[in-house]
Amino acid sequence: MNVNSPIGIFDSGMGGISVLKQIHALMPQENLLYFGDSAYAPYGEKSRAEITERCYSICEFFMRKKVKAIVIACNTATSACVNELRKRYLNIPIIGMEPALKVAADNEQQQHILVLATYFTLKEKKFADLMAHCEKEHIIYKQPCPALVHIVEEHKLQDEELVKQTLRNYLAPYNLEEINSIVLGCTHFVFYRKYLTELLPKHIAIIDGNTGTAKQVKHLLEERDLLKQTKDIGAIEIYNSLEDDKDIQDLAQELLKG
Ligand code: DGL
Repeated sequence: MNVNSPIGIFDSGMGGISVLKQIHALMPQENLLYFGDSAYAPYGEKSRAEITERCYSICEFFMRKKVKAIVIACNTATSACVNELRKRYLNIPIIGMEPALKVAADNEQQQHILVLATYFTLKEKKFADLMAHCEKEHIIYKQPCPALVHIVEEHKLQDEELVKQTLRNYLAPYNLEEINSIVLGCTHFVFYRKYLTELLPKHIAIIDGNTGTAKQVKHLLEERDLLKQTKDIGAIEIYNSLEDDKDIQDLAQELLKG
């Protein structure tokens, strides 16, 4: 492993491509290796043991590829097993993700914050701790949105009618006039930003953790002198557990470019 080694980025499927894009925008010289676990998506409806087993197997693949850092571009996998992964791979920086609730709550005025995430993320202790911290001053609502993961994985993100109706259903229980911000607490949901901007009242801030994660990756690499210094654009390689599925490769390229 050295400065020229790739950064390994993974998710349960295609959501982490939204994170990969942010990492590439911030550090275009880095070689990036993406693994989407689409054969096992969604993680949000699986048990901790099942998710952890998949994450071990993906990290073993990254070890064989001699990555210099691992980004868990998945809030669900992070809440399931980031500590176990860090214990197992002591020499590699492992960057996880959590819903960017702290960003939304960084305001002296009381905020009404709606967090959209997977069932798994929202029921975990990690999120309960985060919420307890912010709940003293703000009002927080939690909304699991499993269909938003399925729509991306099933290559239906361009079906405007389906997408808008699904989003409307999830937003229906809330008085949007009183919501200040919506946190996209699942990396798949970042692909809905354009639709949400169209549907939501203008005063609602739409917040995700992707920029913060990319900055954190850069910071950890700098700290370890592992940041690539050349000006050349790095390579992006995409792998998927649905290896032979051509549609998956097309979908990945489409999301990468979109
Ligand atoms: N993209 C993942 C996340 O950030 C999870 C989606 C899923 O597989 O349920 O939580």
